Amino acid sequence: MSAASAIVDAYIGAHLIAEDAALAAALDHNAAEGLPPIDVSAAQGKMLQLYARMVGARRILEVGTLGGYSTIWLGRALPEDGQLVTLELEPHYAAVARANLARAGLDERCEVRVGPAVHSLGAMVAADEAPFDLVFIDADKPSNVAYLQAALMLTRPGSLIVVDNVVRDGRILDTASTDPSVLGTQALFDAVSKEPRLDATAIQTVGAKGWDGFLLARVLA
Ligand code: SAH
Ligand code: DHB
Ligand code: MG
Repeated sequence: MSAASAIVDAYIGAHLIAEDAALAAALDHNAAEGLPPIDVSAAQGKMLQLYARMVGARRILEVGTLGGYSTIWLGRALPEDGQLVTLELEPHYAAVARANLARAGLDERCEVRVGPAVHSLGAMVAADEAPFDLVFIDADKPSNVAYLQAALMLTRPGSLIVVDNVVRDGRILDTASTDPSVLGTQALFDAVSKEPRLDATAIQTVGAKGWDGFLLARVLA
């Protein structure tokens, strides 16, 4: 099934997705620099871009930059005076991302902040940074609840929070799991279900990146 669904992703891509030269170059540079190929797919990147445009995002926060592939998709949705902040633990990944963003012409609008995202987010809350219209959470899964809590402090009613990799081949069903990523994702579902400020769903996905899914949550108040 996954092979066939990857071919369907190619079909979707050929019909609907214009992956610009900077996006293709970013994936090439990531591979050349030894970054793991765990970026969102082109179809998913385009979906994130459409979400950003649908909410009219002027400020976007991303947790987990890698080489900036998803960052470029999101950054392209911003107006000229928009801003994207993306958080990355690994200095080498951040350097590759900055170069990819510069090649995409997005370095003015997109800022990569290096360090543990929990720390960077705490600093942003303490600095009372202006609210973000869209938050894309895609870093270490054990920290997902902490990222969600920070996102709630850094958004406004109407903001959209998107979390990647919430299904992972169905492993979220394993109640006996000791995998910290699975436990982190299960804790995320529990936290969202108990959070009256969020209206949420999760959508399973197949395709080039296998069986996985996104959690989508709209901030209510
Ligand atoms: N959003 C990217 C993929 C991100 S992969 C894309 O789709 O193109 C997950 C990233 O989270 C990796 O680059 C990893 O280094 C980073 N990460 C892991 N733990 C982190 C932490 N504690 N703080 C910030 N980033 C972290
Ligand atoms: C992994 C992380 C991701 O964010 C992703 O989209 C796919 C895989 C990982 O850590 O294996
Ligand atoms: Mg991911």
